[in-house]
Amino acid sequence: MHVTQLVPFHLGPPLPAYGPPTVLPPQILRGLLRGLPETIYEADGCLLQPLTFSSPSPTYRQAMADLKKLNVLMCGTGEYTTGWTGSGASTSDKKIGVVALTLFDLRRRDKVNHLGMVGVNGKKFPAIRQHLEKNIAGAYKDMDVSFEEFPKDNLVDADAYKTAIDKMSPGEAVIIFTPDTTHFPIAIYAIERGLHVLVTKPATKLLAHHNELIAAAQKHNVVCFVEHHKRFDPVYSDARARAATLGEFNFFNAWMSQPKSQLETFRAWAGKDSDISYYLSSHHIDICCWILQDIAVPTRVVASAATGIATSAPYNCVPETEDTITLLVDWQSLKSPTHKGTAVYTASWTAPLKSGVHSAQHWYYMGEKGDINVDQAHRGYDVTVDETGKSWVNPFYMKYSPSESGHFDGQRGYGYISIEKFVDAVREVNTGLTQPSDYDKHGLPTIRNTVLTTAILNAGRISLDEKRPVGIKKDGEQWILE
Ligand SMILES: NC(=O)c1ccc[n+]([C@@H]2O[C@H](COP(=O)([O-])OP(=O)(O)OC[C@H]3O[C@@H](n4cnc5c(N)ncnc54)[C@H](O)[C@@H]3O)[C@@H](O)[C@H]2O)c1
Repeated sequence: MHVTQLVPFHLGPPLPAYGPPTVLPPQILRGLLRGLPETIYEADGCLLQPLTFSSPSPTYRQAMADLKKLNVLMCGTGEYTTGWTGSGASTSDKKIGVVALTLFDLRRRDKVNHLGMVGVNGKKFPAIRQHLEKNIAGAYKDMDVSFEEFPKDNLVDADAYKTAIDKMSPGEAVIIFTPDTTHFPIAIYAIERGLHVLVTKPATKLLAHHNELIAAAQKHNVVCFVEHHKRFDPVYSDARARAATLGEFNFFNAWMSQPKSQLETFRAWAGKDSDISYYLSSHHIDICCWILQDIAVPTRVVASAATGIATSAPYNCVPETEDTITLLVDWQSLKSPTHKGTAVYTASWTAPLKSGVHSAQHWYYMGEKGDINVDQAHRGYDVTVDETGKSWVNPFYMKYSPSESGHFDGQRGYGYISIEKFVDAVREVNTGLTQPSDYDKHGLPTIRNTVLTTAILNAGRISLDEKRPVGIKKDGEQWILE
């Protein structure tokens, strides 16, 4: 391959020692790229990703040593963090979780240092540690799975996150994967103490809380991202770039569902603390808002819900629990007063069992000059096993099979990248290379760039509760509902 042009996309000033020459033979190019895994280079129109993480080169070690390692507190000890649920190891597609595994690997790669984990019930930690020892330390080479736990001494304490955060120093980071109603109080507590925050979706249930987080992050000059990992799915990010060439927006339709058995898993909060729209539609609402950033804005939301399955035997969820929620959203073009678009976002947790996928997910986008169809549940890769039948699997999200050297090998998965981007941003800010506001300009899921996702979800919930359309509009610098 003859490389004619090499363009670094790196937030902040380029690292001087690695200034790219214009023509490079592939073997030298590979050596350089191995040194800078958080940088994506474009050469001859190809995206070149870093090649290996198993045996970092001396240049890699030096570059990383220049940025201080980050101490991180994980809030939540559940399925997404550890793969451990109240009733044992998860049976979903996240058997060993995402957050802790990624952070253990980032520690192996010298990006993070001390790790803490806070839940509510300290009695769970022996089982969690055993699970991580067996399935992570026992499965991959060089994995240190140690962490400091909160609450300590087998105590049960819903405010243990305050104790854990109070022990931290400004500039350190908190990653929040707890029930939806707790995202806001934990995030604001951390931000007000000068800590950087990565919060899972939905960032907050209320638009007013989302606005408060934007203001607090700005005031305390910290990084605050929402963990919308689908933005790092190569198909979604490619589709966004193509949608940008299709002119005015016309129509978007998204479907996302999980099998009815999830109602057992979610029994503690389903219909009480949150709904299926917040839980699943948050993903594709965010993708749609991301695609339409600078193209159109949402103006009105009407919601409709199907009911009756979740509240019946054998699930017997609380009477308020909806099965399937659809949000119908009007969008107004920013450039053309005559161009208006419609989006339909549907999510369900009463989909059939044994469909071969944990999450069904597909969407359709139509613009003025063309359309895009995405089916992310079926990626042309299926596995059939005698006992369990056929399943469509997705290693592009989390790849759990080890590398040829026996190390964890999922660094290119978008579940991993999403967390690594946050860690990189925080380290760059802490070193003075960038400002937190720089990340708003790069299409990343910062708290400011995700406000319309929360506006639509919150409007949808009000529409269901009050049986009326809900308007979305800008009041000065702030988005509000009416
Ligand atoms: N599981 C997934 O696939 C997935 C994917 C993306 C995002 N999420 C989001 O992550 C969040 C948690 O999901 P999960 O599946 O890991 O849930 P889970 O029920 O398995 O775990 C929730 C954890 O939060 C902890 N928690 C509750 N209140 C707390 C508090 N006050 N302080 C500290 N910890 C507290 C609980 O102890 C538990 O460990 C939800 O907002 C969900 O939408 C989950």
